[in-house]
Amino acid sequence: MLGNFSYKNATKLYFGEDSLDYLNEELPKYGKNVVLIYGGGSIKKNGIYDSVIAILKANGKNIVEDGGVMPNPTADKLREGVKIAKAHNADLLLAVGGGSCCDYAKAVSVSVHCDEDPWDKYFACFEEPDCEIVPVGCILTMAGTGSEMNGGSVITNHDTRQKIGHVFGDEVMPKFSILNPRFTMSLPKRQMVAGIYDIFNHICEQYFSGEDDNVSDYLAEALMKSVIRNSLIAIENPEDYEARSNIMWAATWALNTLISRGKTTDWMVHMLGQAAGAYTDATHGMTLSAVSLPYYKHIMPYGLQKFKRFATEIWGVGAEGKTDEEIASAGLLEMEQWMRKIGVAMHLSELGATEDMIEGIADATFILDGGYKVLDRAEVVQILKESL
Ligand code: NZQ
Ligand code: ZN
Repeated sequence: MLGNFSYKNATKLYFGEDSLDYLNEELPKYGKNVVLIYGGGSIKKNGIYDSVIAILKANGKNIVEDGGVMPNPTADKLREGVKIAKAHNADLLLAVGGGSCCDYAKAVSVSVHCDEDPWDKYFACFEEPDCEIVPVGCILTMAGTGSEMNGGSVITNHDTRQKIGHVFGDEVMPKFSILNPRFTMSLPKRQMVAGIYDIFNHICEQYFSGEDDNVSDYLAEALMKSVIRNSLIAIENPEDYEARSNIMWAATWALNTLISRGKTTDWMVHMLGQAAGAYTDATHGMTLSAVSLPYYKHIMPYGLQKFKRFATEIWGVGAEGKTDEEIASAGLLEMEQWMRKIGVAMHLSELGATEDMIEGIADATFILDGGYKVLDRAEVVQILKESL
């Protein structure tokens, strides 16, 4: 049975090879002062920076740049960004990059007109914004997080060794996002597959919860099949526009709140992965892939029917002559083979995690109760050890 819910998506999307043209339609809606947010420089190498600057200038904007947003943006960088946006009296925060830039822009947006420390307020204490919010627009260059069409913002604090996400409401979601699959083609293969696994896991996190016959789970299955199919095409030929465009669109749908409507969700792989990320600063999607199999094997007995459905519907595992457990296990084996084929990290040690970090990572792991088994701390430690 579907639970009660409301559904609205506050972000307008422009998708396709010509989508950047629509920046000209969006810019006149905002004041003159634009903060251009970007990362470590990939947009300067691939030419996206020049195209965006030309459009901003043609629209008469005053531009201030806030570059150097790192993967897994930090609380210190956030404080710096708030100062830049404040000094420039920002009317629009335009993020050009991957999820890190989009997440960071949202965190800045709720902090510019707020006197409290942004980390303390939103990430340590999970308070909601009570000040004016500066509008955010995104030009996405990497498919994965879904940040382009959701209210999520994940910030890392190296001092406290925490990586925490706050899911903000409609008013913080990007006002518009521009998705040109061609912009993702300059991604190194490792980043591309990290993004692909992030997408896949977002779907799993929402799928592996509840046992009801739920329309969201059928949508999730369709998205998973598309991601698997197109990932295999894209690793062979990263220039395949059809595959890259399907991956980009699936990423958005995987985490724009649609497939979680009316059902419970899990998110424990993300909690484990984020805690590991706080200790290693590793690429987000790789932290997820490294903990996934030990976690799913651990919870499989508690959600056996769903894991069986996953095996037959997603991986085409034949049921004949097998027990439910054998079918479900065969599904996870297929998933493992796909993960190895696309080349994601299979162990936390590949990402710099060491045995002596396990207790700390376990302490930094939020335990949620939406999955098939509410873990206790000993189980968290066990799963982390198995992931090492
Ligand atoms: O910084 P630059 O030079 O741009 O390089 C980036 C970065 O090194 C590079 N890159 C991006 N687009 C490129 C490119 N390189 C060449 N060509 C391009 N077109 O890729 C690297 C990774 O970028 P990043 O933005 O960090 O990756 P991603 O999109 O995976 O974002 C990761 C962050 O998002 C958070 C993660 O925790 C992490 O902090 N998440 C946000 C979520 C949300 N808002 O809902 C949910 C996710 O589960 C996730 O937690
Ligand atoms: Zn993710």
